[in-house]
Amino acid sequence: MRQPVSQARYIPRMGLLDGKVAIVTGAGRGIGRGEALELAAQGAGVVVGEVDADAGQAVVDEITAAGGAAVVQVGDCAEVEAAEAIVARAVDEFGRLDALVNNAGILRDRTLAKMTPEEWDAVIRVHLRGHYAPTHAAVNHWRAAGQPGHVVCTASTSGVLGNFGQANYGAAKAGIAAFAQIVAQENWKHGITVNAICPAARTRMTEGAYGSIGSADDDFDFWHPDNVAPFVTFLCSDAAAHISGKVFGVQGDTVELYRPWTSEAVIENGGNRWDPAVFADRVGNLFEETGINPAAENGMARLRYSMTNRTP
Ligand SMILES: NC(=O)c1ccc[n+]([C@@H]2O[C@H](COP(=O)([O-])OP(=O)(O)OC[C@H]3O[C@@H](n4cnc5c(N)ncnc54)[C@H](O)[C@@H]3O)[C@@H](O)[C@H]2O)c1
Repeated sequence: MRQPVSQARYIPRMGLLDGKVAIVTGAGRGIGRGEALELAAQGAGVVVGEVDADAGQAVVDEITAAGGAAVVQVGDCAEVEAAEAIVARAVDEFGRLDALVNNAGILRDRTLAKMTPEEWDAVIRVHLRGHYAPTHAAVNHWRAAGQPGHVVCTASTSGVLGNFGQANYGAAKAGIAAFAQIVAQENWKHGITVNAICPAARTRMTEGAYGSIGSADDDFDFWHPDNVAPFVTFLCSDAAAHISGKVFGVQGDTVELYRPWTSEAVIENGGNRWDPAVFADRVGNLFEETGINPAAENGMARLRYSMTNRTP
């Protein structure tokens, strides 16, 4: 194994992740950049995964200028070879891997009726395959090494609540929440945790949507992308080793816990197969019992924190 070159530049400090090593995909800007900076500030050596080499290198320069340790690994995280290469890079450069933050993502917003197959495929690929490939490589690395590890996946309220105009993105993000829950179960006994966050922040991706809310009337900028990083850093640490398969909302100074899809009511037919015509009379019980509206709804209306309503 090569001598870890970056450790020569690495200034040890008392942090939550001293001596640990983390990968962040899509860390060249936005939420991923903040995560890479915080992980490094907490003592981790960081591999900045990016398709945009300049953006990735700029984050590495910021980290190293501040006395941290980081390297950029250029590649598409949805490519299996690139995902394996980023795990290998962590081990080559820093001698180990402790955490993986799957953050890279793109948008191609369009209502379904107007959505092209290319817009569907691009979003599903970057998010779902972009979670599968690095997680597959990291989990197999940890299992082969008999070592614990922590994975943080990036879902979205657009998936777990459902946002108009984002059938591709929301399907991918809800899929990521399910992915985290399932991979968590499969790897719990190996000491590997897998959680998902639903962040919200002002980035290139949400340009315009979040304006400068929070900066005008107080010092805390609620929608600053760096606000997401502290909780992600905690999930990457051994202090969170008892938490797995969970989905958290992370925005501003708030952390929310989502309850997974849960069955709320049931109708039964006395041990007999249903006659479809009977549902016209019976299905209403499900909605009456739960108060759930049978019509299509705006799931995002259930957001506790939104850009137009920061407080509960
Ligand atoms: N910004 C929000 O409010 C918000 C809300 C919910 C979820 N998210 C999710 O958070 C994550 C980060 O979003 P952001 O707002 O910081 O976006 P961003 O566009 O600012 O940054 C995303 C970064 O990922 C990189 N990237 C894209 N595809 C990649 C690939 N295939 N391989 C490697 N890198 C790639 C881009 O070059 C970019 O630097 C995404 O998964 C996004 O879906 C963001």
